[in-house]
Amino acid sequence: MTIASLVMQWALILVITLSSWLYFRRRLVNSTLNNLPGPPCQSFWKGNLDQFFNRHASEFHKEVTQNYGAIVKMQGIFGKPMLYVYDPKALHTIVVKQQDIFEKAESTVRLVTLLFGPGVLATLGETHRAQRKMLNPAFSINHMRDMLPIFYNIVHKLRDAIATRVSDGPQEVDMLGWMGRTALELIGQGGLGYSFDPLVEDKADAYGEAIKAIIPALITIHVFRELLPYIGWIGPAWFRRRVVEVFPNKQVQKLKSIVDTMATRSVEIFEAKKAALDQGDEVLAQQVGEGKDIMSLLIRANRASSLEDKLPEDQLIAQMSSLIFAGMDTTSNALSRTLHILAQRPDVQERLRDEIIEAGHGDNISYDELVSLPYLDAVCRETLRLDPTAPLPTRQPNKDVVLPLSEPIRGIDGKMMSEILVPKGTMVIPGVLGSNINKTFWGEDALEWKPERWLFPLPSAVTDAPIPGVYSPLMTFFGGSRSCIGFKFSQLEMKVVLSVFLSNFTFELTEKPIEWNVATVRYPTVGKESNVSQMPLKVGLLKRVRD
Ligand code: HEM
Ligand SMILES: *[C@@H]1O[C@H](CO)[C@@H](O)[C@H](O)[C@H]1NC(C)=O
Ligand SMILES: *[C@@H]1O[C@H](CO)[C@@H](O)[C@H](O)[C@H]1NC(C)=O
Ligand SMILES: *[C@@H]1O[C@H](CO)[C@@H](O)[C@H](O)[C@H]1NC(C)=O
Ligand SMILES: *[C@@H]1O[C@H](CO)[C@@H](O)[C@H](O)[C@H]1NC(C)=O
Repeated sequence: MTIASLVMQWALILVITLSSWLYFRRRLVNSTLNNLPGPPCQSFWKGNLDQFFNRHASEFHKEVTQNYGAIVKMQGIFGKPMLYVYDPKALHTIVVKQQDIFEKAESTVRLVTLLFGPGVLATLGETHRAQRKMLNPAFSINHMRDMLPIFYNIVHKLRDAIATRVSDGPQEVDMLGWMGRTALELIGQGGLGYSFDPLVEDKADAYGEAIKAIIPALITIHVFRELLPYIGWIGPAWFRRRVVEVFPNKQVQKLKSIVDTMATRSVEIFEAKKAALDQGDEVLAQQVGEGKDIMSLLIRANRASSLEDKLPEDQLIAQMSSLIFAGMDTTSNALSRTLHILAQRPDVQERLRDEIIEAGHGDNISYDELVSLPYLDAVCRETLRLDPTAPLPTRQPNKDVVLPLSEPIRGIDGKMMSEILVPKGTMVIPGVLGSNINKTFWGEDALEWKPERWLFPLPSAVTDAPIPGVYSPLMTFFGGSRSCIGFKFSQLEMKVVLSVFLSNFTFELTEKPIEWNVATVRYPTVGKESNVSQMPLKVGLLKRVRD
């Protein structure tokens, strides 16, 4: 027997032993997961993936969140278990207690790094903590207060632009488009000290267009997208870049040009900002954002911090596109959803308008008054409860981990389980919607849109449950150290827009049916078939009979 064949034989034995060990271990562990209740599997290859992530999955999400209890087993590729979890104790473990284990999926992290660089969406562990520490003050209430005049200024421009379009009587207006432009401009000026869109005229900005094009581009390359993050790590940077440059696919080239535009523009804006900061307060006051934008604060904080806390420049720059991306469609679509409901519910619209106009100058309410208007707050909360705009965060434990439950659940075999062993790499979906609409907590009317529920003390079942959401007791903005950093920003944005709009406009439905689609960020289309995101409403100027 030659040495070579001996080595071969041993290698073969090793491979067989190892894979059968892995196979049996997986069967053993999966048998616990497979004992969990959940919807039947639709496809052998793709399990419930299509059913759950499909854009028409709203009904399926209702089923998953109502019929199986607070921890639901579904299936991913080739029967690999996938968990949807909304038991509060388990959620707390995922989001807070063991959040270093329940990390974002590796493929997500790689994709986000490729798109935006090492910003807050992409980093993990210590690096992420250091970035959040530096960013947090820029998202504080005090800073929101400082930014309010910038917000009003932009929203007043928007109001005037829409007012000219409807001055001859009520018109059909795509409110999603306008909310998108507003959200981009607000995060542009408030976040970057940069104006993307004059709002009064239609003018495209290459940076803004690039960011808007990301999601459509990712949808068109979904096959490569699965691969890209993996092959995207092979070899040195110049080699990977060369591979992408010669990659014979139009959509991949499109994505490359998007990434290039974002990278170039963010560096340019960053350099201009540093130069302005060096020139002192007078120059700053002339800049967009008056030096109060989040990036200006961040650069100053970084300069002032001790050596061990300083972030490298590429991490500062990466925050720019990350913040715009995270802050744009989320808020604009949540606002659109609110306007949609107000158009469906003229009674609520009228009551809300009364509250706003009562508060004085309907269109320029002070910070403290605006954030504490009870009905406005109730309408926002109730909308974000029932329609969490970003309902699909996913996590993947980086090692085997035990998930404790607040109440034991009955397995398919009839045995009670009070904790669940989740193997490394299992796809876990923290049940944002499931928690927000759990009838045990919220009562039998949990699925109804009822802003009044927020005007009274909430049921103690809700307030006593350890739901780990930052926007307590809702999971809409997630929780723990990866919670939405922009949640106060987005609340302020919603309230400024609604207060100004309701004091000037009326909103009604048109004949066109509006359908809300499931996606990383939920979006509206006209009917189920169309894949153009839009939301036409009939907008009229408010006749001020009251004055
Ligand atoms: C209604 C509007 C919004 C909703 C529903 C929302 C929701 C969320 C959710 C669920 C997450 C966690 C995602 C995950 O980890 O998988 C998140 C993270 C994040 N959000 Fe928001 N968001 C909104 C608006 C904003 C705004 C306006 C900004 C910026 C100004 C923003 C910036 C971010 C950032 C930077 C993260 C990542 C935080 C981290 O990983 O440390 N979001 N958001
Ligand atoms: C709500 O959560 C509780 C606690 O985890 C759970 O036992 C219950 O099954 C959930 N209720 C519904 C209707 O899903
Ligand atoms: C809006 O209110 C602020 C403070 O309440 C005031 O300084 C400002 O002049 C007002 N702006 C307009 C246009 O009324
Ligand atoms: C909007 O409402 C404000 C406050 O009621 C009023 O002063 C302003 O003229 C209105 N603007 C438009 C364009 O209708
Ligand atoms: C939208 O749908 C049409 C036809 O249904 C299809 O040709 C087109 O590629 C779709 N666009 C996107 C961005 O998915």
